Amino acid sequence: MTHWRFSVPTAVPRRTVLITGASSGLGLTFARRFAARGDDLVVVARRRDRLDALARELQAAHGTTTAVFAQDLSLPGAAQALFDRLSDRGVRVDALINSAGFGTAGPFAAEDLDRVTDEVQVNVLALTQLTLLLLPQLLHSPAGLLLNVSSTAAYQPLPNIAVYAATKAYVTALTEAIWQESRGTSLQVLALAPGPTETEFFAAAGSDRFKVGPTLTANEVVDAAFAALARRNSPPSLVVGARNRATAIFARLAPSRLALLVSARLTA
Ligand SMILES: NC(=O)c1ccc[n+]([C@@H]2O[C@H](COP(=O)([O-])OP(=O)(O)OC[C@H]3O[C@@H](n4cnc5c(N)ncnc54)[C@H](OP(=O)(O)O)[C@@H]3O)[C@@H](O)[C@H]2O)c1
Repeated sequence: MTHWRFSVPTAVPRRTVLITGASSGLGLTFARRFAARGDDLVVVARRRDRLDALARELQAAHGTTTAVFAQDLSLPGAAQALFDRLSDRGVRVDALINSAGFGTAGPFAAEDLDRVTDEVQVNVLALTQLTLLLLPQLLHSPAGLLLNVSSTAAYQPLPNIAVYAATKAYVTALTEAIWQESRGTSLQVLALAPGPTETEFFAAAGSDRFKVGPTLTANEVVDAAFAALARRNSPPSLVVGARNRATAIFARLAPSRLALLVSARLTA
């Protein structure tokens, strides 16, 4: 049996879905999909012009409301500031999609301190704080959803992408634990782990080192996420693509020295 919430759009209660990183790539694709299902959105990213254009597009296409919150999530306190702005405007959310994120590449010793600090702030701290602040609302919703965008990079340490892989390992670990803690509630929780996906991610990172494995489109990744969430007992995490799943299993089972050797070759 498929899950009613995601398989029958016309039966879906109208929800408010907050999506970080909605100005591009996976976040943008999620925004279009949720709006097509009739959900109202709260969209967050730095590029306000893109978010405003998205709000106009979705209003015209689906008649849904999109609230725009331009916010730099690399700033300390950004999640609390966003939460306060939502509270001031009386916005309550049913679903949270943490998609904002970016990667840095190169040997760890050569990483830029400020850039790495921003990376941890966006990928880890803002995601954690926003999740914690909004969790009571998600749990209160009859159709709550927490979806954190992780990566196949989460499944093994990655030399030359060390910090990024570590941030994503954190995202998967955190999200899977929340999945277990939410058993018996109406909240669905998913750590989504795509492999390389056609978005602006590589341009933002300024590196192709992340292109390990087959490249998918953002639509394919979002399709896979919705399919996983439609399952009666949806999983704590989803590695998108059969080859990526096999690689993730290998990385988890292989001795560390072997996994690191293979990883280093792939990201050299
Ligand atoms: N594409 C891939 O190959 C791939 C694979 C696995 C996982 N992922 C993950 O997927 C998620 C989405 O990335 P994507 O592929 O869609 O890349 P993308 O097209 O570059 O989108 C990244 C999004 O994050 C937002 N963002 C970045 N820094 C931000 C900041 N300081 N404050 C607020 N928002 C910020 C960007 O918005 P602004 O620039 O407007 O702020 C943009 O909307 C990330 O978490 C990424 O790690 C991507």
